[in-house]
Order: sequence, then structure tokens, then C-alpha cells
Amino acid sequence: MCPSDNKPNQPENPQRRTFLIALITAMGGFISFVLGGSGLFYFLSPAWRSKKEDWVEVGPVDSVKEGDPVKLDYVKRKMDGWNVIESPSSVWVVQQKGEWVAYDPHCTHLGCPYRWDASKQAFLCPCHGGVFTKDGNVVSGPPPKPLNRFPVKVEGGTIYVLPEGIA
Ligand code: FES
Repeated sequence: MCPSDNKPNQPENPQRRTFLIALITAMGGFISFVLGGSGLFYFLSPAWRSKKEDWVEVGPVDSVKEGDPVKLDYVKRKMDGWNVIESPSSVWVVQQKGEWVAYDPHCTHLGCPYRWDASKQAFLCPCHGGVFTKDGNVVSGPPPKPLNRFPVKVEGGTIYVLPEGIA
């Protein structure tokens, strides 16, 4: 047995100790950076996410006859942080002479849902008697402005609206 194999009272090499401390510190820092950075990115990423247009499919084109306003239902999805909030919604769609129009289903007075009356050829609001033409203009009652329009497009025989954007 070599006498240098077991030397309990011999001091450790200070350079080796310094190197190991530096190595362990560096590894700890690297692990903290990776875990902390990815965790921080995960929590902050919704704030950085760019807002994209969310066109919503509301129905086939043949569900709307020329000149007859139709109320089409859809499910509105909205991101709230990491949650997707779904709520039933609707839109009035009119097609005349090849032009498509989509109306916000809420009256511009105080937001009541209105309906189409085919016999009067007008949108009627039950809350305070607001009346709108098929073009969305105010005929009578307290509404201060025409019906709000949503951007609308038709692609491949399907109607899409952009509910967040008022046209
Ligand atoms: S909310 Fe429609 S007329 Fe008042």
C-alpha cells in the first residue's frame, strides 16, 4: 500500500476546491436561468402574443335568401389569460344585390336584442320602440345611430364575420 493513498490530515488542494465551487455555482446559475426563464416566459407570453383577426364561421351562404335578413347563431370564443371563454352569440346577416352585410345584434340605444319584422320590412327593438331599416338606418325611436356592422366575407360558400371589429 502506498503511503500517500490515505492521508486524513493532508489539506485539500485549494485550487481544486475553488474550481468545484465555481463549477457548482455555474451549474446552479444555468439551471436557474433555464427553469426561471422558461417559467417567466410561460407566464408573460399572453401579454406578448399578437392579436390576430378571429373570423367566425356563421353559416352557409344558402342559409340567407336575397333581401331577407337572417339571424345566425355562433359560439363566440375569447381568450382570457389562459382560459378560453365561450358564449353563445348571433349576428344579423343580409345579402342584397351581391353585397353582404352583418349587423351587431344589439340595438345602438341601450343594447337590447332586436328582431326583423318581414311584414314591416324593418328591424324592431322591443325595449324603447327603436325602428331600423334593412340598411340599418334609424327610422324612429331613441337609437342615436344606425346598427353597428361587423366585417363580413364569403369564402367557399361559407359566411364569416369578424365580431370584434365594427365596420
Ligand atoms: S334599446 Fe333599443 S330602443 Fe332602446
